[in-house]
Amino acid sequence: MKKNDPIVLFDSGVGGLTIAKEVMSEFPNEDIIYFGDTAHLPYGSRPQSEVRKFALEIIGYFLELGAKLVIIACNTATAAGLKAAQQRFEVPIIGPIQPGVREAVVATTNNKIGVIATEGTIGSGAYQNSLCKQSAEVEVYAQACPQFIPLVEAGELYSQKTKQVAQRCLASVVKKGIDTLLLGCTHFPYLRNVFKEIAGKDVNMIYPGQGIALQVRGFLEKEELLNSNSTGGKRKFYVSDLDKLSAKFVKLGKEFLNFKELEFEELDLWNG
Ligand code: DGL
Repeated sequence: MKKNDPIVLFDSGVGGLTIAKEVMSEFPNEDIIYFGDTAHLPYGSRPQSEVRKFALEIIGYFLELGAKLVIIACNTATAAGLKAAQQRFEVPIIGPIQPGVREAVVATTNNKIGVIATEGTIGSGAYQNSLCKQSAEVEVYAQACPQFIPLVEAGELYSQKTKQVAQRCLASVVKKGIDTLLLGCTHFPYLRNVFKEIAGKDVNMIYPGQGIALQVRGFLEKEELLNSNSTGGKRKFYVSDLDKLSAKFVKLGKEFLNFKELEFEELDLWNG
């Protein structure tokens, strides 16, 4: 691992950009590579073993090229493959579940926490188990909401349809009186304003972008791996299937994320 090696983030699609945004703004001098596995999107409905396999292949590919840190910017892939990846590779690999859980437990005052995520993440029990381990007091209300992923990928960030879907998906957790909602899928922060409208403005919305950025800082400082390049790091955005990337998302996502540039290249790791 060298100081000028890049940090790699990946997700099944564009959701992980919500984490990339925080990491990019925290580390303007780092080279950062983002990879969205649009060829295999969605991950949430696939068996854990398959998602784990994709995650290990993606990480292996980028480590061959050289990377000093990998962020699994996808909760589904974290639930399915973080442990296996940490066991297989020497480079540090982190994911959003732990930082999200820590933040949610600090934020709640009535100890009622809602978690929304893909069916894969909810089915794995990763959030439920971690929250209960972090605090014996909390009551966790988990709900799979896979419907949001295609809406976000299509750039439907503010549409009427998105609001209707959100009403239906959030109803069961909101009625439990939660004061904290963990957005356990990296696609969901794009919809946080819609969620606020439905859940109520006093409900804390937790998404772990900043928590991840802090974890990255801790590691890079400790290992003395911060890039000292002061002319600004390079940013590269790849997807495994460019045809599956919506132009509408690229436009709205760019505004939402406040990125100057958001241009994707195709990188098909499996058939390149
Ligand atoms: N963004 C991903 C997550 O955080 C999953 C979306 C999908 O189903 O591919 O879980």
